Amino acid sequence: MASADSPAVGTSDRRAAVTAVGHFLPEHRLTNADLEQMVDTNDEWIRTRTGIRERRILKDDSKASAFMATEAAREILATRDIDPATIDVVIVATVTPDMLFPATACLVQNEIGATNAWAFDFSAACSGFLFGLTTGAQLIESGRYERVLVIGADKMSAITDYTDRSTCILFGDAAAGVLLEPHDTHGLSDVVHYADGAHGDLLCQPGGGSLNPPSHRTVDAKMHYIQQEGRPVFKYAVTRMADACSEIMARNNLSADDVRYLVPHQANKRIIDATAKRMGLPDDQVMVNIDRYGNTTAATIPLCLHDWEAKLRTGDQLVLTSFGGGFTWGASLLTWAYDGADAA
Ligand code: COA
Repeated sequence: MASADSPAVGTSDRRAAVTAVGHFLPEHRLTNADLEQMVDTNDEWIRTRTGIRERRILKDDSKASAFMATEAAREILATRDIDPATIDVVIVATVTPDMLFPATACLVQNEIGATNAWAFDFSAACSGFLFGLTTGAQLIESGRYERVLVIGADKMSAITDYTDRSTCILFGDAAAGVLLEPHDTHGLSDVVHYADGAHGDLLCQPGGGSLNPPSHRTVDAKMHYIQQEGRPVFKYAVTRMADACSEIMARNNLSADDVRYLVPHQANKRIIDATAKRMGLPDDQVMVNIDRYGNTTAATIPLCLHDWEAKLRTGDQLVLTSFGGGFTWGASLLTWAYDGADAA
């Protein structure tokens, strides 16, 4: 557990900055009206309780998280015309890998032609991207690596029970990610990350691992789907995310005026609002796209960075924050290192 005086990322002279962003969204839109035809729910309940209007679904059964992560990686490389052979490490955060092994990151590494990279998956549920970003940053800070891809990718529709109204309204499919490169001054400068395994059973996919390998019993018991106790998870998420953001602001002497944007994991608009309120940030300084994509697990934070990239300016201070299964949660302070496309 990080404490106020524990060394974090960003303590060396060499920082890791985000230098490119990419994303992939499937075309198919699953709207609240579609869900009304599938389970006993309604648009008004979903919008007011979660903030979600529609989500994207990867309908093609022959494609999964590796496909989406590969598309996001290709977009990252294309924006800067980067030779894939110069990528040193590929990290994919996901709870919906194409298969348990090989790692989805290895599939991406092969598809994009990152012939000199090593690659691994990162499992921290909705905190996967945040924790993966810290890991990637420390690889850069070590001085050993120059270019690290960190991608969040989740085909949540593959593990969603579309007869369970309490979960099927929440999730969508997407991938998004960033390129990390060394920087003298800007980049990831501090993190507070936490885990509390005592509550793992409140949000989990119990089947398919070595404890409950696939069998008729696990399929009949729906153990391969997401299972969530929404109400207690909500209570933990609201307090833990806001606590993590307050902590990172306090230990960096930041007031709301110093933070350009809050970049929160998109699980529920009400959780985001409560966190922003605690930080004293107005709505226009909070990245929110949950209405269009739902909860895409490891993809939410980089998807926000993609959607807001054009508005970002060199030196903008961003507070990234997440809460998810595990439980896992935290906040990170990221100073943006380039001007967005419409900066003039
Ligand atoms: N449509 C209509 N009614 C629904 C419904 C739906 N899709 N889902 C649940 N309900 C009903 C419940 O049955 C319950 O009815 P009852 O009062 O008659 O028993 C009522 O709505 C309230 O249910 P509750 O579960 O207390 O709702 P909620 O306000 O907690 O909202 C979630 C449910 C899942 C949206 C919310 O708990 C949540 O966002 N949890 C946290 C998610 C999260 O952060 N996850 C971690 C990161 S992935």
